[in-house]
Amino acid sequence: MNFLPLIESKREGRTLSPKQIQDLVHEFTAGTIPDYQLAAFLMAVFFRGLTTEETTVLTLAMRDSGDVLKFPKDPRPLVDKHSTGGVGDKVSLPLAPLLACLGFRVPMISGRGLGITGGTLDKLDSIPGFQTLLPAGRITEIVQEVGCVICGQTDRMVPADKKLYALRDVTGTVPSIPLIVASILSKKLAESLDALVLDVKFGCAAFMQTKAEARKLAKAMVALGNECGVNTRAILTDMNTPLGRAAGNWLEVKESVACLERRTGVPPVPRADDLRELVRTFAAHLLVQTGKAKSLAAAHKQTEDCLNSGAPRRKWDEMIVAQGANLDAFNQKLARAHTAPVVRELKADKLGRVSKCDARLIGEVIRDLGAGRLTKESAINYDVGVDQLAKPGEPVKAGATLVRIHAANRAQGDAACARLTAAFAVSVRPPQTPPLISEVITL
Ligand code: URA
Repeated sequence: MNFLPLIESKREGRTLSPKQIQDLVHEFTAGTIPDYQLAAFLMAVFFRGLTTEETTVLTLAMRDSGDVLKFPKDPRPLVDKHSTGGVGDKVSLPLAPLLACLGFRVPMISGRGLGITGGTLDKLDSIPGFQTLLPAGRITEIVQEVGCVICGQTDRMVPADKKLYALRDVTGTVPSIPLIVASILSKKLAESLDALVLDVKFGCAAFMQTKAEARKLAKAMVALGNECGVNTRAILTDMNTPLGRAAGNWLEVKESVACLERRTGVPPVPRADDLRELVRTFAAHLLVQTGKAKSLAAAHKQTEDCLNSGAPRRKWDEMIVAQGANLDAFNQKLARAHTAPVVRELKADKLGRVSKCDARLIGEVIRDLGAGRLTKESAINYDVGVDQLAKPGEPVKAGATLVRIHAANRAQGDAACARLTAAFAVSVRPPQTPPLISEVITL
């Protein structure tokens, strides 16, 4: 294939034909297009964009570049949630077993973290024995038997995205809406879903920093998901404050289990139980999207009753055992007060209300403690991170804990504690806390 005319066409802002795009995906997956030409093409797309039709063709061609999961006929709809990522975002962990208990099948193919954004697979790797890499046959088997699985993409799924994403990462072409849409949806479409809900985050620790950018991405993904036959909704959520009260791999697993064990209570401040609120909201939307509930209010009641029944907590154990976890070792680890060698506390210096809990700075500090990766090759320390985060709006007394730091050694714990001082503010007047959920985007 002579790829040069295609690069030139896109450089001039012309529309490519479906055949040109399909050939392009086929060739670069086979490795016959040199990286320098593909990089030039990506930069042309970055500046010129793609039409909706071009994006659809690209997404489907990427999906079909490898294996697509196949499931037997079953009355339980196939559903999933995707998040654009943030600090403390562990929603997938309690959500998958909850959805399985609500009568869904959940083939949740997840990713690893990079930078300040945590990755679901890294969190699960902190569970003794848990296997995140499973062959396609085992993924479908666990989904059919247990109802949910959370694992990584197999080597043979969406190879076109692996190649393209690696090149985008080093050529400054990641922040292109059509390329992001194609990348995310090609992977989700390879799960053969009936319905998908997208958590598109905005704020200082999100991929999309402003609500307007997040809305643009969400609308493009909702349009394309539906165009490709998957009932897709997006929810815009705030990522200026970490989600939940813990960030760091094992600490987030612990918080997820606690979320499945907790009974409902009225949160003392609006954002106090934001993790549970998001888990319930995504489940409720999927119930409505698949016609399993008549209204969002009825769906919320169904999810709350299900959580309170304790069944999703038992389903969690079933899922992790199916994925190789050693349940005794897991329970012993859960019972430990902390697994990192050093624990420090940052205290409030005055009485008032928490007015700042900066997700970006907290994300940077926990990444530097070893919870995240600076490069794709970095090793992770699963035990470090923060917990007991005080949330915006909450009343605190002088000397109360604002955050607890779990570190590998004393020097790192002290350094993190000093840096985190700037992540918090306490004010006398009650602050304005923005809503967790700001918009729902449907077709
Ligand atoms: N996540 C993805 O999977 N792909 C992108 O392009 C951006 C975020």
